[in-house]
Amino acid sequence: MQPKLPADIETPAYVVDAAAVERNMATAARIKRESGAKVLLATKSFALPAVFPMMRQTLDGTTASGEYEARLGRETFGKEVHVYAPAFSDTEVRHLLKLADHIYFNSASQLARFLPLVKAAGGKHVGIRVNPGYSNATLGGPLYDPCAPCSRFGATRDTLEAMPWADISILHTHALCESLHDGSVGLIEHVGRELGQYVRKVKTVNFGGGHFVNQPGYDVAKLIAAIKAFRAEFGVDVILEPGAGLVVDAGWLVSTVLDIHRNEKDIAILDTSASTHMPDVLEVPYKPPVVGAGEPGEKPHGYILGGKTCMTGDVIGEYSFDAPLKVGDRIVFADMAQYSFVKNTTFNGTPLPDIGLLEKDGTYRVIRKFGYEDFARRVGA
Ligand SMILES: Cc1ncc(COP(=O)(O)O)c(C=O)c1O
Repeated sequence: MQPKLPADIETPAYVVDAAAVERNMATAARIKRESGAKVLLATKSFALPAVFPMMRQTLDGTTASGEYEARLGRETFGKEVHVYAPAFSDTEVRHLLKLADHIYFNSASQLARFLPLVKAAGGKHVGIRVNPGYSNATLGGPLYDPCAPCSRFGATRDTLEAMPWADISILHTHALCESLHDGSVGLIEHVGRELGQYVRKVKTVNFGGGHFVNQPGYDVAKLIAAIKAFRAEFGVDVILEPGAGLVVDAGWLVSTVLDIHRNEKDIAILDTSASTHMPDVLEVPYKPPVVGAGEPGEKPHGYILGGKTCMTGDVIGEYSFDAPLKVGDRIVFADMAQYSFVKNTTFNGTPLPDIGLLEKDGTYRVIRKFGYEDFARRVGA
């Protein structure tokens, strides 16, 4: 169905659908109400302060991938701020102590290095990410499976016994990606079965993200039942921190046809790009839905949709349409709220590298430094 978008939107534009965000929040509200779990927004997936007031009414806070996202969560969302990264630097942890209430470490070595600092700051909840050895990612194979062989995510089983459990209050396991209820329930039951002795040492278990709770076909009642059973068995609090699942089908990327090129097939060149605006199309890879279009051959007029960059592989995919495309036509990509604008640059709020120049005489000059403001400005904070 064509969304009711104003005709004069300047393209390209990511357009977030406030009504869809609200619909998605109703699912989160039900999970919280019926299971007693807390639900956080993973800002790595969707960081748009303009709709945070709507999300804040339901969610318990945000979970960040580092300092910049933690600051965004603290300053623009409020409530609880959680943060996890595969590794922190000393400076980052010092800054995070002012921004986050819950800090999760990835390994025994990171914990040993930073625990004294965190304890000295007082009032922080310390988490350890554990690799549960459970795979259910439905997207992208090993590329999106946090428990793929040789994954860098989470303390491995053999390191758990020696963890300083007295100082750890949260056990964290993130293992899913666009998973339906079978994945969520499977993970919860797996953790109970395989890691129960460690669950009994903490106050809270965070089952990470990847719970695709608003996706058609996801049986929320099954998730709720699994959380309730887990809480009853272990007497712990439960946290979920989905990103994508909270903004399913909650936006579009609106673009315009700039030219129709012919080389064996008809190729529509757009004012958008897979490489720069939809990097997941190439990374996963996947073919995004286009409003009103079908698979090749399904409708009478076939086109390859291509981006406007010089990268040969900047191709979005092959589609078919009811009528021939012409210059000026609008092409609307659907489900573009999750992992879209956040992936253009500074994914995870990762600071951009300096740009420097090594002069001929050997001196080094920093031309441009980037900071939190560059990240925050991009998302309208
Ligand atoms: C630790 C952690 N938590 C939460 C999420 C959010 O996952 P999703 O957006 O798939 O729900 C991710 C995604 O990579 C993650 O790595």
